[in-house]
Amino acid sequence: MLGESWIQPDDLQLVTLEEAASLVGKTTHNIRDYIQRGRIGKYDPEGLPIARARNGELRVSLKELRAFLALVDQSLEKHHRPGLHPELGFYDVPEHQRTKHVHRLHPYLGKFIPQLVEWFLARYFKEDDVILDPFMGSGTTLVQGNEMKMYTIGIDISPFNCLIARVKTAKYDVARVRREILEAERLVSLFSRCLVEPEEQSSPLFRDAQLNDFERLKVALLEECESEYLRTWFAPWALLEMLYYRSLIPSYHYQDLLRVILSRAARSSRLVPHYDLARPKAPLAVGELYWCRKHTKCCMPIEDCLTKIHAYSEDTARRIAHFDQLRSDRTATALQADSRTVDLKSALDTTPLAGRLITGVFTSPPYVGQIDYHEQHLYAYELFGFPRYDDLEIGPKARGTSRQAQREYIEGIAGVFRNVRPLLHQDARVFIVANDRLGLYPEIAARSGLRIVTEFRRAVTKRTEQGDDPYHESIFLMVKDR
Ligand SMILES: C[S@@+](CC[C@H](N)C(=O)[O-])C[C@H]1O[C@@H](n2cnc3c(N)ncnc32)[C@H](O)[C@@H]1O
Repeated sequence: MLGESWIQPDDLQLVTLEEAASLVGKTTHNIRDYIQRGRIGKYDPEGLPIARARNGELRVSLKELRAFLALVDQSLEKHHRPGLHPELGFYDVPEHQRTKHVHRLHPYLGKFIPQLVEWFLARYFKEDDVILDPFMGSGTTLVQGNEMKMYTIGIDISPFNCLIARVKTAKYDVARVRREILEAERLVSLFSRCLVEPEEQSSPLFRDAQLNDFERLKVALLEECESEYLRTWFAPWALLEMLYYRSLIPSYHYQDLLRVILSRAARSSRLVPHYDLARPKAPLAVGELYWCRKHTKCCMPIEDCLTKIHAYSEDTARRIAHFDQLRSDRTATALQADSRTVDLKSALDTTPLAGRLITGVFTSPPYVGQIDYHEQHLYAYELFGFPRYDDLEIGPKARGTSRQAQREYIEGIAGVFRNVRPLLHQDARVFIVANDRLGLYPEIAARSGLRIVTEFRRAVTKRTEQGDDPYHESIFLMVKDR
């Protein structure tokens, strides 16, 4: 299937057992033990994997050995298996780097880490290249590409994902961002104080021509809330704070940024167990005690939203200011569309990229039957009334993993690459990140008019919201099949 070896001799740093032992401070017996337990691979002096070594021929990869030992040090040994690319685990990258600046503006199940994007963009592309992500999600490729002075285009079917990506990549007046965020936070704090201390209700804040008392304001806010979901998944107190914050948004300039803050706060303020923010099944009752796996004690669900608005307001202003220092002036375009049918050429004709070809793709498509991408942000759809296009999602969880679902998936993903292929430069490199446990990508490549050149493999650790079971993914490098 593969035209070239995925791992280059330079990536391996081949050494003898004795050299390996002395370089990592172990004995040769230790190294043999790792080989016998299948923890690291055996290579010949040219770097080819071998089953049995002839005399004097056995080599190990110093980089692979070091990557394995780094996992052992962090008690993450179970994630390792031979054949993983030694540099693509990013085991030593701490959480605050994985979620640096705008990458943490809003949680998102199924995003990849910026270090992975950076590793490939730095090796295979250069400044001013045009990089496409047809499954943009929360915009990781766009942010990282922009930081590396590349033009980026992202497409996603979910309007809320596009909102997150646009908010992350927009150019801001940083001082104004801070002013607006802190002002909205202050107003919602005053509102919340009035909920606790009735004497505050005479605050001038809540006396205007139409609503001359606080009770009427509350009634008006609740009347505007038609969503059964919001009324059931939030405590009454949290709901009022959210609705009030939402009512403030139209009076600001950076409205989408405030929507992202409110959405992030709402996500954490649902009546759900603290350990189950990613995939909650049903709301708890207000005040219901439950055994919390995250805090290992009895907890109650949160009843307000202000706590989270406080937590995320300053944080957001700081993250925006941080990225502003790093960003380039290259455009980042986020399109809400179905990547199978979007007329990308016309869409780009209205941007500074008119007439240019795409130099590379870096993307992680959905996988068959894993995640419902609209549904994971249901609270945001209910709060802001964005249109939903669930039926156009490729491979959603709701459609399962049956043979039929797999066929549809293959056709869907291949349909995307066939659609964008005419805009790809003849030498474009297409990187696709997927945990292809069903082995569907060779057929997808063939049906897309692409050829798989190389497959990199990596372990994905620290998947905090998705459990800690070992999880491996491939990064396929494909090119146009001429
Ligand atoms: C694995 S996620 C991408 C995550 C992204 N790499 C990130 O870091 O945030 C896959 C994305 O594909 C999108 N998607 C699914 N079907 C689509 C379609 N037909 N057209 C465009 N996007 C689609 C989903 O909405 C989802 O955001």
